Amino acid sequence: MTTILGIETSCDETSAAVVVDGVSIKSNVIASQVDLHARYGGVFPEIASRAHAEQIGAVVKQAMDEAEVTYDQLDAIAVTRGPGLVGSLLVGVNYAKGAALASKKPLIGVNHLEGHIYSLWVSESRREIEFPIVVLIVSGGHTELILMTGHSQYERLGGTLDDAAGEAFDKVGRLLGLPFPGGPNIERAAAGGNPAAYDFPRARLEEPYDFSFSGLKTAVMRAATVAPSAAVRRGEAAGERHAQLRSDVSIADLAASFQRAAVTALVEKTAKAAEMFHATEVFIAGGVSANQTLRQAMRSATELPVRYPPLILCTDNAAMIAAAGYRRFQDGQRDSFSMDVRPTWPLTNKTS
Ligand code: KG4
Ligand code: ZN
Repeated sequence: MTTILGIETSCDETSAAVVVDGVSIKSNVIASQVDLHARYGGVFPEIASRAHAEQIGAVVKQAMDEAEVTYDQLDAIAVTRGPGLVGSLLVGVNYAKGAALASKKPLIGVNHLEGHIYSLWVSESRREIEFPIVVLIVSGGHTELILMTGHSQYERLGGTLDDAAGEAFDKVGRLLGLPFPGGPNIERAAAGGNPAAYDFPRARLEEPYDFSFSGLKTAVMRAATVAPSAAVRRGEAAGERHAQLRSDVSIADLAASFQRAAVTALVEKTAKAAEMFHATEVFIAGGVSANQTLRQAMRSATELPVRYPPLILCTDNAAMIAAAGYRRFQDGQRDSFSMDVRPTWPLTNKTS
């Protein structure tokens, strides 16, 4: 039995979890900062790191208490090393180092994207998966299409050239006057709308597995707002916030049409990659994988089994970090106490 404490502080969730053998969740405590950031319409880095620093001790203690384990019973401490916000990552990594030093347990730095992928394994309890699989990671910071040829073996097929999928949902949500985060609120608004009301353009890209969402975002802006200023036409963040909604538009129709356009792009390329690389299954992970329209569209687009994590493991959580850490622990990874944070760490096969 291998017991791992996972710690995640890369963005706006302070989370700690205890996971046994990479699949069995003993605890998964998630303190979300959504309310703190809502009034800024996005994650405010300084506020995020301060909130992490305030919460981390209590969150880890709660995870250990709920799991009814002591530090002696742990085999390792896994922590998100990157990618993410530098100040936020530092809080988690420093806390993990302190805990690992004090308890004389190994420290394992985990890639946040790998964590999202392993959120599928936690929920799939020991099911053997035949490789290769195609994985679409869609979150607030990332849109990555990956060919996974074995455990910890990744080949990047493509990704976004501009906004991440979740970022596009968040920006369009803000534009439509919906609360932060935009993703779940757009999904809710879209439920009452007509996805065919607007025919938003599709990005034409040179690379078959790349994505682009900025043109779509601008098209929604054009359809939704009154006489956009030059800044708005350029799609600048400041402009989005100041754009004034037209009184004759339906938020539900705009949300539904945007959602369909975004989902269609994601699904078509993922299904194509799965066919091209003879994948046995398609995985979707990350915050946007909570989206029911995306899940449904993906199931329709391919005959292969489509897997996604349970809702609680779609957005950031430490159980997925402990699960990915377990795999790396089994492979012999042990990080030094001088381990740094990697705010822009790509998903790689190497351990450091
Ligand atoms: O994975 P995550 O918690 O954090 C990052 O690593 O970025 O993903 C958060 C993102 C946000 O952009 C949020 O709007 C989006 O996931 N999201 C959704 C849904 N739930 C969360 N997007 C679309 N539909 C949803 N139901
Ligand atoms: Zn994430």
